[in-house]
Amino acid sequence: YGCKMKKLEDYVRSIPDFPEPGIIFRDVTTVLQDKDGLKLAIDSIQDLLKDVDFDVIVGPESRGFIFGVPIAYNMNKAFIPVRKKGKLPCETIEMDYDLEYGKATIEIHKDAIKPGQKVVIIDDLIATGGTIEAITKLIKSLGGEVVKIVFLMELKGLKGRDKLAGFDVEAVIQYEGN
Ligand code: PRP
Ligand code: MG
Repeated sequence: YGCKMKKLEDYVRSIPDFPEPGIIFRDVTTVLQDKDGLKLAIDSIQDLLKDVDFDVIVGPESRGFIFGVPIAYNMNKAFIPVRKKGKLPCETIEMDYDLEYGKATIEIHKDAIKPGQKVVIIDDLIATGGTIEAITKLIKSLGGEVVKIVFLMELKGLKGRDKLAGFDVEAVIQYEGN
């Protein structure tokens, strides 16, 4: 037994030289489009949270929604979306962050997190860490406390973790490059 079991890494499609030469794109769609891959991904992230005391899960649009919601549902927690600017209808706070090319802005509803709440952040991937760093700032300014940050994949070569110093950060799969 065990010899035929696929690991999570086996479901990730790696595309060399996309979107530009020298970059290996780690494609999560091949994880999602396989029922065993999807289950393994959700279960693997959720396993990293089994001993964590927290109140809510925050996930960024859009790939963070895919993994954040099922885990929130399974663990009987709420899910709070962080969205790209201009999508949320009520009062928000926003944060700018750097992309590999240019800048972006994300928003969260002001009433989404209550002061003192313990927050877990979930996303599919950490690259430069800019997205999640911005989210930690939004959560802090609403009075929430980030107790753990979990990714399906980490591109270690981009040193995104350095932007998240002081936080408890874990990734299910780690790639050495970028
Ligand atoms: C991707 C990925 C992460 C982020 C990682 O999202 O899903 O959220 O980039 O990059 P960083 O660590 O350098 O911030 P993207 O902004 O492409 O949007 P999407 O989730 O809607 O595809
Ligand atoms: Mg994303």
